Amino acid sequence: MVKGYPTFKGQVLNGDQLWDLIEGLEANDLLYYTHLLTGYIGSVSFLNTVLKVVDKLRAINPGLTYEGGFFRLSILSLAYTICYKWNLLSVCDPVMGDEGKLYVPQELVSVYREKVVPVASMLTPNQFEAELLTGIRIVSEQDGREACNRLHAAGPPKVVITSMNMNGNLILIGSHRKEKALPPEQFKIAIPKIPAYFTGTGDLMTALLLGWSNRYPDNLEKAAELAVSSLQALLVRTLNDYRRAGYDCQSSSLEIRLIQSQDDIRNPEAKYKAERY
Ligand code: ATP
Ligand code: MG
Ligand code: NA
Ligand code: MG
Repeated sequence: MVKGYPTFKGQVLNGDQLWDLIEGLEANDLLYYTHLLTGYIGSVSFLNTVLKVVDKLRAINPGLTYEGGFFRLSILSLAYTICYKWNLLSVCDPVMGDEGKLYVPQELVSVYREKVVPVASMLTPNQFEAELLTGIRIVSEQDGREACNRLHAAGPPKVVITSMNMNGNLILIGSHRKEKALPPEQFKIAIPKIPAYFTGTGDLMTALLLGWSNRYPDNLEKAAELAVSSLQALLVRTLNDYRRAGYDCQSSSLEIRLIQSQDDIRNPEAKYKAERY
C-alpha cells in the first residue's frame, strides 16, 4: 500500500532561499498581505524563517491573520482563489505526522510548540499533531477538548482537530475561544470513515476552513460544517470514480477529484451537522 507519492523531484528551499524571495517582493513593494497560509515545512531553518516572515508581514499590515498548512500547488491555488474572491485571511496547519508517525525532523516539534502556535490565529492539527503540541494523550473526546483548551492558552483563538479516530469512525472537534475570560465554544462533527486513503485531504480541509472562516468569522461551527460537507462530497466522488474504473481502492492512496468537485466546494449541501458540547 503506497501512501502519498512514490517519488518526487525538485528542490527543497532552505530558510535563506525563502528570505531571498521575501526580499525580492519587498524590493518591489509587493509585501502587503492580508492573510498568510503556511504549508508543509521540513526543516527548522525554514520554519524559523517563516516566523520572520510573519513578523515582517505583520509590521507592514498589523491586521494580518496567520494560519499554517501542508499545501500542494493545486490546493494552494484553490485557497488563493477562495481568498481572493472573498478577500480572505489565513491559518496554521502544524503538519508533523499522522497515526503515530512523525514525518518531519523531531526538532521541529518544539519550534512549532514554542514559537509557531503562539502566533497563529487558527490551528488545524490532526489527532497526533494535537498530542505532540500539548503532550496530552488523546483517547477520548474529553481529551480532545482538553487539548483544544491547552492550545487556546498558548495563543490561537480557533482550533480544529480535523480528525480523531473514535471506534473506527472519525470525529472533528472545533473550539472557538471568543473571549479570553470565557470558556471556548466547543462542538464535534461525526464523519463516517470511508475505507480508503486519500492524498491531500488535510490540505484541502485547512483551505476550506480558512475560506469559510473568512466568510463566517464568528461562526466556526458553520465554517466546519461547510468544510466537512464539501470534503465528504468530494471523497465520495473520488471513490466512485476509481471504482467505476475498476480500480482496487485498497492498493494505494487515491488522488482527490478536486476540479471535478468545484460545485461541491463552492456550494456544499450542509449534510454534516455540528453537535455542541
Ligand atoms: P493528511 O493525512 O492529508 O495530512 P491530516 O491528517 O492533516 O491529513 P485528517 O484530519 O486526517 O487531516 O483529514 C482531514 C479531513 O479529511 C477529515 O476531517 C475528514 O473529513 C477527511 N477524511 C480523510 N480521510 C477520510 C476517510 N478515509 N474517510 C472519511 N473522511 C476522511
Ligand atoms: Mg490524517
Ligand atoms: Na489537519
Ligand atoms: Mg495534515
